[in-house]
Amino acid sequence: MCLDSTTVALLSIKSLSVNFGGLKALDDVHLTVEKNSVTSVIGPNGAGKTTLFNVISGLVKPDSGSLSLHEKEIKWPAAHQLAGLKIARTLQGVGLFSGLTVLENVMIGRDHHRKSNVLKDALGLSEKDERELKDRAMDALAWAGALSLADKPISQLTYPDSKRVALARALAQEPELLLLDEPAAGLGQSEIDSLGELINGLKRRCAIILVEHHVDFVGEISDSVYVLNFGKVISSGSFDDVKRDPAVVAAYLGTTTQSTLGGSHA
Ligand SMILES: Nc1ncnc2c1ncn2[C@@H]1O[C@H](COP(=O)(O)OP(=O)(O)O)[C@@H](O)[C@H]1O
Ligand SMILES: [Mg+2]
Repeated sequence: MCLDSTTVALLSIKSLSVNFGGLKALDDVHLTVEKNSVTSVIGPNGAGKTTLFNVISGLVKPDSGSLSLHEKEIKWPAAHQLAGLKIARTLQGVGLFSGLTVLENVMIGRDHHRKSNVLKDALGLSEKDERELKDRAMDALAWAGALSLADKPISQLTYPDSKRVALARALAQEPELLLLDEPAAGLGQSEIDSLGELINGLKRRCAIILVEHHVDFVGEISDSVYVLNFGKVISSGSFDDVKRDPAVVAAYLGTTTQSTLGGSHA
């Protein structure tokens, strides 16, 4: 049977394992991300969520397994090659350059190592290229609901605003796949609600993988959910399916003082 393009997975991970010394941080993980979808990865602390992000973003080399984008296998890239692969990531800490404005941060992008070069390059850019870079940054700021912040210094941002700017910076890379590491952490309920709306809108633009502690939020915005525990996927499917899965309930009971998946240890 011929698969049409809508059934081709954007990202497909097979048999992925990562060992740190004797510790299996990821153990035979399979994960598929469809285009224009939100896929969430939850699990108790130490389950391997950040390691999974680190592998997808080229920061950690796995011991075995494969990773394909558009069904084409990619080699584990160095982080600076990620923009070429159209994968962008926001960091758990926000990681903006404090001496620059919001717009400058979004124009420069995420790569710390390229900061000085990009600034130097920016001076040598043609007017047209600079205009394009700026337009892309302004467009990303608009998507992230942060357009009005463009000229502010980073030091004047509130924490929720700095998270929006970090998101805009990732979007300015025009990713096909966006990795969000705990985007709701530290936000109040109304900010979480508007983040949910924002992520729903972003699905038109790219696919999203979300690592998040706020389980209710995960339930509201995810098309599919993977639950990791001790490096293994113990359940996957819709949020409603995984939250009823006895293996998931047992994992959470075993590791938290909360008695349900609604606890804070996702
Ligand atoms: N660079 C590293 N070196 C050694 N052990 C690590 C490293 N990164 C993570 N680990 C270990 O791997 C396991 C998974 O960690 P992590 O992916 O950060 O989990 P999570 O994000 O789900 O809390 C943990 O036991 C952690 O201590
Ligand atoms: Mg983590």
